[in-house]
Amino acid sequence: MKASALSFKLAVLFVVAGMAMGIGMAASQDHSVMPAHAHLNLLGWVSLFLFGIYYERRPTLDTSKLARVQVWLWSLGTVVLTIAVAGIHLGYAAMDPVAALASLIVLAAMLLFGYFVFRPVASVAPTPHVGITPAE
Ligand code: HEM
Repeated sequence: MKASALSFKLAVLFVVAGMAMGIGMAASQDHSVMPAHAHLNLLGWVSLFLFGIYYERRPTLDTSKLARVQVWLWSLGTVVLTIAVAGIHLGYAAMDPVAALASLIVLAAMLLFGYFVFRPVASVAPTPHVGITPAE
């Protein structure tokens, strides 16, 4: 599977979970896990979807194994960070080192993405934009 397709699919799974979490918070009127909800949606939905758009515009990168590794690493970090942040806000102080580890996982995934963005390789340049000219 291409990295972009993987990103979009995982992003949808994350936002469904994030929305369910939001509805659960609203229904119970207990917003204590709000930071976990925010991280799940912003890392899992918004960021992952943006990665997908970037990969989709770069076909060579999109089919590379390393891009898929980046998506899986980011997703793993997001799941672990969400659980750990929720745990911390529910009073489980033991989750603190887990959150620290997860934060390093998402940082590593972002550094890998940064490598894709900064490396001066023609193959990772975006495909030319095909514009549509309106009829006169
Ligand atoms: C069914 C959909 C959703 C529901 C029911 C929901 C519900 C909530 C609730 C109840 C809060 C706590 C507000 C507070 O305590 O002040 C919250 C906070 C938050 N939500 Fe959602 N949410 C939903 C979707 C999303 C999505 C899709 C995103 C991001 C793309 C998002 C991002 C956030 C953020 C960043 C906060 C923290 C806001 C703050 O710091 O005050 N939520 N949400």
